[in-house]
Amino acid sequence: MAGERGSSGPEPGPAATPPRIAVTPPGLAAPGTADAAFVAVLAVAELPPGAMVRVTNGDLDVLLANVPGGLLATDDRCPHMAAPLSLGRLDGCIVDCPLHNGRFDLCSGETIQMPTTGGLDADGTPHMPWSPPGAEPKPEPPGRKAEARRLTRVRRLRHYPVRVVNGFIEVAFPHA
Ligand code: FES
Repeated sequence: MAGERGSSGPEPGPAATPPRIAVTPPGLAAPGTADAAFVAVLAVAELPPGAMVRVTNGDLDVLLANVPGGLLATDDRCPHMAAPLSLGRLDGCIVDCPLHNGRFDLCSGETIQMPTTGGLDADGTPHMPWSPPGAEPKPEPPGRKAEARRLTRVRRLRHYPVRVVNGFIEVAFPHA
């Protein structure tokens, strides 16, 4: 019968699968986020798999990424010297930093490759400066600059809580 529901017109498609949320590594929740309010920052459709983007709340720049483990948010500041990781390249869970060749695992929070400047890793172990293959070794800066490089600690990345509500990605930002 004409006009009967379901007798004409397109059938409704399957319900969209909600995006997964990446697991926060133990002990790596960003400080101040335990009871922080969620804020909608981006439509899910604007962050396809393999994409990352900076979102800003007040003076806090956060890197939103859609990695194989799901959606996650971390600081859009390199854990070495604060360069925007959103300007790097994302390969799976690994992002490289545009400044000193540091490579970081967004999923585990761990450093995969120390920066060319060397420095201290998250556990305080010292690492020497290095040069990428084929590149001329750069002379070490003198005095306090060398000391600053040597003592710069590359911390593990922290995660901000993420959820999806009505097709929008929401992030819990810490209290100011
Ligand atoms: S600022 Fe990112 S590796 Fe140095």
